[in-house]
Amino acid sequence: MNDSIKLLINPLKREISLTAKSNLLEVFLAEGVNIPVLCNKNASCGKCRVVVKAEASPVTEIEALSLGETLISEGYRLACKTEILGSGEVFIPVESREDLLESAYFGNELTAIRNKDFPYPVKHGIDHAGSDRKYLAAVDMGTTTLTGYLFDYGGNFLSNCSCFNPTILYGCDIITRITNLKNSDDFQKLRNSLLAEIKRLLNTLCFRAKGIDADDGQPTGPDSICKIAVCGNTIMQHIFMGINPVEIGLFPYRPVVKDLLHMNAIELKDFHIIGLSGDAEVVIAPSVSGFIGGDAVCGVLATGLHKSSEPCLLIDLGTNGEMALNYRGKIFAASASAGPAFEGYQIGSGMRATIGAIDFVRIDDESNIHYSVIGGVNPKGLCGTGAISAVSSMIKAGILNEKGHIIPPLMTGRIRKGSMVIATENETSTGRTIVLTDKDIELIQQAKAAFASGITCLLHAAGLETEHLKKILIAGAFGSSMDMESLKTIGLIPYKTDAEIVFVGNAAGAGIVMTLLCEDAEREAIEVAGAMQTVEFAFMKEFEDEFMEALFFRTNAIC
Ligand code: FES
Repeated sequence: MNDSIKLLINPLKREISLTAKSNLLEVFLAEGVNIPVLCNKNASCGKCRVVVKAEASPVTEIEALSLGETLISEGYRLACKTEILGSGEVFIPVESREDLLESAYFGNELTAIRNKDFPYPVKHGIDHAGSDRKYLAAVDMGTTTLTGYLFDYGGNFLSNCSCFNPTILYGCDIITRITNLKNSDDFQKLRNSLLAEIKRLLNTLCFRAKGIDADDGQPTGPDSICKIAVCGNTIMQHIFMGINPVEIGLFPYRPVVKDLLHMNAIELKDFHIIGLSGDAEVVIAPSVSGFIGGDAVCGVLATGLHKSSEPCLLIDLGTNGEMALNYRGKIFAASASAGPAFEGYQIGSGMRATIGAIDFVRIDDESNIHYSVIGGVNPKGLCGTGAISAVSSMIKAGILNEKGHIIPPLMTGRIRKGSMVIATENETSTGRTIVLTDKDIELIQQAKAAFASGITCLLHAAGLETEHLKKILIAGAFGSSMDMESLKTIGLIPYKTDAEIVFVGNAAGAGIVMTLLCEDAEREAIEVAGAMQTVEFAFMKEFEDEFMEALFFRTNAIC
């Protein structure tokens, strides 16, 4: 064994030591260097690409297929398939940088709850006299994205940021993630990666809040937090608590813990990995069932769905596709497992809704393609909103058939059989085209069909039809360009609904912030969880039938 290999990671300018033949992705994970990983290290996502300028294992066949001749000749490798054999440099190209970036669209929800709409005064019961632990933090552990918010004692918002959920390494959807756990070591590794990433998230939140006072000798990282509230789907919450969630993936899908937990950090196994002080308060949101977790409860709490006097539906355009329907005092809740396409993942040119993401696409009458980019910079990829917008504009332009295939006649050089180039290599910051392919569209079809069929089945479970709906609340961290017309055109929400449609931002994030800041909200979250009943789509014949039908686009019903 040779321990003397040194690797310079650029542009981070970070030198690390490693053992010869180490897998590059494993090294990155151990060192906290984040790059996108959207498959189980089996080279199917092609996202973990880096440029290797060091002696390394030979290029595998699967890498050659995934990257193509040109990139291979430029030194590109898939980190998950590369073993480092000698010292040198690894460069992380712009498209593979997964830095903590404050999404342009996270935070809007805070404005809503911190203004006149916030239903409770701040009341967290913490005596902070003489304490140098001065922050309160909320973390929403989404299946694909972790989002954090930081506040002072008075409930004043200080900072927020988001990053990808590192447990995605074990599978894009949450069930695959737990079925990939072969033993308790695997579980521990997966959990450690989550806790370490939460530490990084909290560090960034504190650093942003503290700014120029960072050298005043007081705690600056997670140890300066006196209370943290956490929500996520039931499986993520179990992972956070240190409870192996394997049982939740098996019939009858029961969670080990459903109740809201309020404890000191010292009672949380391995709390030191997060960097919290042992006496920090930890609150974990209540869950309803194996498929309806604390994030769904927090979404209902924040939107006030449970108080609605009319039939009102909340859908979260996230990976798990949670939805809740309030009708006559009952809250019917379900999860439609949509996959991460709407969060900008899995699609070839996909990325999160951050700076550089195309979030709007329009095809004009002359078949020219127009787009807008978050931050007004050169585009780097396509976020979920941009993908929905692109598909909607393709349907309107008549270049997508019902099955989701891009169809001839070729209208411009950018629209080809099987793909549409949205931005050319000259326009992008990566030097690579941003393209939407038939394969990407298939993923979007599956995601929209999961929502559409889920909505129908949830309504039927409550004895309702589409026309009875009075309001649809759409939650999610998508771009400001998300519009109702696009969602109707692709068939995600019913074509013919007169319901008022309201975009509510990250409702789960808002709900966990409320739980953090106010004990009354914490109590109400428990009541909400008690009032929610799960509708299970697994094995439901109607859901299967509706799903198959919803896969098609209705090209003759353009909104
Ligand atoms: S291709 Fe390497 S993680 Fe997916």
